[in-house]
Amino acid sequence: MNNYEILPGVFDIVPEDKKEIWQSVEIWQKLEELIRSTCASFGFEEIRTPILERSELFLRSSGETSDVGSKELYRFTDKGDRDIALRPEGTAAALRLFRDQDQEWQKKHKKLFYIEPMFRYDRPQAGRYRQHHQFGVEVIGPADPETDVELIDLLFTFYSKMGLKGLKLELNSLGTKASRESYLKGLIAYYTPFKDKLSADSLRRLETNPLRILDSKDPQDKEINQKAPSILDFLDEPSKEHFEKVKTWLTQLKIPFTINPNLVRGLDYYNHTVFEVVTDQLGAQNSLGGGGRYDGLLKLIGGPDLPAIGFGAGMERMIQIALKQEVFFVPKAGLELAIIPLGESAYMTGYSLVRQLRHDGIAATIDLSRKKLAKRLQEAHESGVKRVLILGDEECEKGIAKIKLMETGQELSLPLNQIASFLTLETQLPKLSRTWDRLATLMENKIISNALLEQTSHGLQALSKAIDEVHAKLQLKTN
Ligand code: HAM
Repeated sequence: MNNYEILPGVFDIVPEDKKEIWQSVEIWQKLEELIRSTCASFGFEEIRTPILERSELFLRSSGETSDVGSKELYRFTDKGDRDIALRPEGTAAALRLFRDQDQEWQKKHKKLFYIEPMFRYDRPQAGRYRQHHQFGVEVIGPADPETDVELIDLLFTFYSKMGLKGLKLELNSLGTKASRESYLKGLIAYYTPFKDKLSADSLRRLETNPLRILDSKDPQDKEINQKAPSILDFLDEPSKEHFEKVKTWLTQLKIPFTINPNLVRGLDYYNHTVFEVVTDQLGAQNSLGGGGRYDGLLKLIGGPDLPAIGFGAGMERMIQIALKQEVFFVPKAGLELAIIPLGESAYMTGYSLVRQLRHDGIAATIDLSRKKLAKRLQEAHESGVKRVLILGDEECEKGIAKIKLMETGQELSLPLNQIASFLTLETQLPKLSRTWDRLATLMENKIISNALLEQTSHGLQALSKAIDEVHAKLQLKTN
């Protein structure tokens, strides 16, 4: 035991960690790419907020009666005597960012997303961390129910692009402030006779926020909750109308959902639509993502009175479930070329070549050690590199070298000054083939005009020939 050990409830992200695949940096990178491309296709823009904020922001927004906004808050006083918190969730931070922009920026509806670490001081367990990561979105401005559906659609589009299956959407409405107030009265009247049966937590919540009793995991509370009044019976006309529209749209878009009148979410700021995506494949931590509407919160923290809605989706959990379902495979990116220089002059020649390749965007490496050749070859092989070039003084003098293709063991002689062009074309082959296929279907369907068709066809033929020639040079089959 020493003082350098990693803290409980946090984890490292490591290149290709065989023990804990979900901690492999390759998966995280692929996930982040998918988040960015999906959000871009929905017209969302990325924001990044500081990890540190004034504690007041979260106490005020998440609600001092919520766990996230109180007992789970990582909170300390800084050297300037400020009360600081590590960001436990993204919504309040995004709203603070919005509030701090100028009026011109705030004028248009904002569709924002973030990929950020969050900090919650909770008992660490499988699927529950003290530092976790969220992909979250917040839409500020529109009040209409269709926006609620668009957000849910975004979340499910994303999950389906990951290939996740069997996810369930739970939906509820917490209505307007007025309907919630009459519901709270109903809840207090219902729970008061059960005072001596409720768990200590729920008893406290009866005083502070009775809604949260519905969220309790305590078995006795759960039983009492079964007969609790439903919020849906307390919704006023505008709330009902909003919720009906959400349900109708989801049904028309064929996004299946179940109504869960006990779904209140763990933060205090919600109204109208709330939702959660759950799975039965992650044990106790069954919530994959969730969110809802929080009209009024921006005003509460000193911003303009604008409606807003968003969700947060846990990234650790989505990776863990993807691995369980054996989807979202990450192909190894791999290096295109490793150079092993042998003679003294080969070190500089080899380094110049690697430098040129890297400028051209080709991933390449050079082994600058003086270890034995066999050892260096073994290390190159183990690294998974696609090609190896052994460069001796003789090759440097003649200007011709042999590249070994690691997968087949074939060798290919190439002039040193052609290696960069050759590898550029080689690495572009898959893309070129895809372009070829797409253009071919456009031509077949007569979607491109005749003149263009002719030009394209010439271009395609040349491309196709180039691809064939490269393949022939590599002595690979062209099927
Ligand atoms: P939340 O439900 O507290 O909502 O968190 C969103 C998601 O983050 C959860 O569904 C879960 O997947 C993941 N998550 C939360 N805590 C942990 C943890 N300790 N370890 C691992 N994963 C965790 C929010 O944070 C709201 N800001 C969502 C939102 C955005 N509502 C409106 N806009």
